[in-house]
Amino acid sequence: MSSDTRPIGVFDSGLGGLTVVKAILEKMPCENIVYLGDSLNVPYGDKTSGQITEFAFRNTEFLLKKGVKAIAIACNTADSTSKGKLTQCYDIPIIGVVSPAAEKAAGATKNKKVGVIATATTVGSGAYERAVRSYLSDCLVFSVAAPKLVPLVEAGKIHKSDTEMTDALEEYLTPLKEKGIDTLVLGCTHYPLFYDLVKEMMPGINIIPSGTSSLPSLYEKLLSEDMLNFSEKKGEVEFYVTGETSYFGEHGGLFLGTSIEGKVKKAVI
Ligand code: DGL
Repeated sequence: MSSDTRPIGVFDSGLGGLTVVKAILEKMPCENIVYLGDSLNVPYGDKTSGQITEFAFRNTEFLLKKGVKAIAIACNTADSTSKGKLTQCYDIPIIGVVSPAAEKAAGATKNKKVGVIATATTVGSGAYERAVRSYLSDCLVFSVAAPKLVPLVEAGKIHKSDTEMTDALEEYLTPLKEKGIDTLVLGCTHYPLFYDLVKEMMPGINIIPSGTSSLPSLYEKLLSEDMLNFSEKKGEVEFYVTGETSYFGEHGGLFLGTSIEGKVKKAVI
């Protein structure tokens, strides 16, 4: 069996995609990773789909120059607006987050009522409705745009004592509770940071984080393409951002579970 040591390229608008890097490192610890956070343009969620597609192509080109073997789009907003266009143009595996999370939600719901909180652009794209119904055709999908959440997460306001966060969550989750959903997709890779808060506010509801749900698809794709790295050595991760490196380095540890201070490089793209 051959071993493909080339890195996996992962991108997001900012810090959120690090939740996907964390999951890759846990499940596939030998894989090398190049991460790109397009922090100059965060949040993606209030941009037009045309703008996001432009960013997605630019991010992909940057990662390809780093010699990646596959791309994990660690961003629901970029996936829902641009994945189809990227897969048409590039010949390497490109894995998104929306379809795997939708499949998981369709498998988890008992009353066929699924809620989604996500960025305005993701909600506007209708991607989750289509994806969940492709797995469970008579499922009702209720999506709520949650524009306040990404800026709050990027600012580190993720604790129970952060009333701006708890008020915003109350605002977005109340209509979903009223619809009687039994399953909620956290349709943005920034959201696992406040998983515990949501769990507390939505007792008894299945909570599906989007980023980590994509791991089996990524693994299966790399396996089928004979692209897994079987080396004994722990993988290395390179971090690049389009914006401020020090801020990203200081806050990245929260998402990744391990400090990356001083390890973040400026992406020239
Ligand atoms: N974390 C991204 C997502 O999953 C992008 C959030 C944003 O930049 O608005 O949608």
